[in-house]
Amino acid sequence: MEDLNVFGHIKLAPPDPILGTAEAFKKDSHADKVNLGVGAYRTDEAKPYVFKAVKEAEKRILADPTLNKEYLPMRGLDSFNSLSRELLLGKGCEAITENRIASIQCISGTGSLRVGAEFLKVHVNPPAVYVSSPTWGNHLSIFKKAGCIVREYPYWKPETRGIDIEGMLNTLNSAPIGAIVLLHVCAHNPTGVDPTPQQWDQIQRVINHKKLIPYFDSAYQGFASGDLDRDAYAVRKFVNEGSQCLVSQSFAKNMGLYGERIGALHIVCKNKITAEHVLSQAEIVVRQMYSNPPLHGALIASVILADPVLTQSWKTELKAISERIIQMRIRLLEELIKLKVPGDWTHITSQIGMFSYTGLTPQQCENMINKWHCYMLKNGRISMSGINSKNVSYVARAIKHSVDHSPKL
Ligand code: LMR
Repeated sequence: MEDLNVFGHIKLAPPDPILGTAEAFKKDSHADKVNLGVGAYRTDEAKPYVFKAVKEAEKRILADPTLNKEYLPMRGLDSFNSLSRELLLGKGCEAITENRIASIQCISGTGSLRVGAEFLKVHVNPPAVYVSSPTWGNHLSIFKKAGCIVREYPYWKPETRGIDIEGMLNTLNSAPIGAIVLLHVCAHNPTGVDPTPQQWDQIQRVINHKKLIPYFDSAYQGFASGDLDRDAYAVRKFVNEGSQCLVSQSFAKNMGLYGERIGALHIVCKNKITAEHVLSQAEIVVRQMYSNPPLHGALIASVILADPVLTQSWKTELKAISERIIQMRIRLLEELIKLKVPGDWTHITSQIGMFSYTGLTPQQCENMINKWHCYMLKNGRISMSGINSKNVSYVARAIKHSVDHSPKL
């Protein structure tokens, strides 16, 4: 046994294209380094931010003499499930009052997608799962891992730096009945480009006509526009107009609860009895994966959402955060124009949410990272929240140098 290298055949895994940028940033000792990689909010002082509403909720949780550390049920904390569903779909949503949504607290957005994917594979076995091209890289891996066949629909049109709506509709039109269509509710990751209400109408028509099943990923509600209702437009439209669908909801960004791993999976069903059956089966999926979810994040979110005063204070902070990001978009565009960087950069301000899909080539991205210590994704995505009033001109100079140094072919 001693001579045998039992695990010797295992190769070193490549760094994660997103989370790996945070590791590389940490290791870099350069004074001007900038973290434009992982989508995690930073203040104007480049510091992580804990919402005041979260701190207040934690105070209340600690002061509660009835608090214990018992297991949650497999579906998680009931108050969290109903409050998060209401936040997503709005008060008075018929699917809620008719009790036809199966909701499960999950380990943030990723955990929710994983449970959703496993549930679909076991109980629906869809012919394919369609994701946007491009999409958040982990989407593909999560559905593949669950045994689903993953296909892509066109989404990004480099020439217009906008949506390839025709390509998207054509592909969905030829998708097999019962296929899943993964849609980003708002602040599309990585492009920052969302469909207009008219485009959502078109997408919905194809989905209904072809009997496809929408699966919404809601990772940025309130973070895109600063308005929770506005950012939920697409999912509310589908649910209120009768769609049976899945929604993965994350509180990582909009409550800043990244490390608490809190989110939910909502499965909107045709009727109450179906929702009960679906919930019971989804609980079995959870039981076999990790038994039941952690308590703390669910308590924080439900303390905030159950108290109108605390909810209001959270919303005010959320608005301030999204406004800072919008301001940084404006400032970055101004700097790029001032420096006369070749090309049209107006997409920096027309895109929305945490990210900007700059259009920089992989070579230009390498230059950003290696010469300028601006850590970003190789597909050209930058996290706008890593930009602040002190580093914005430095980032613009880095972009200028990268474009000049390696112009597009
Ligand atoms: C991102 O896209 O940067 C975030 O969603 C973080 C992650 O888990 O990839």
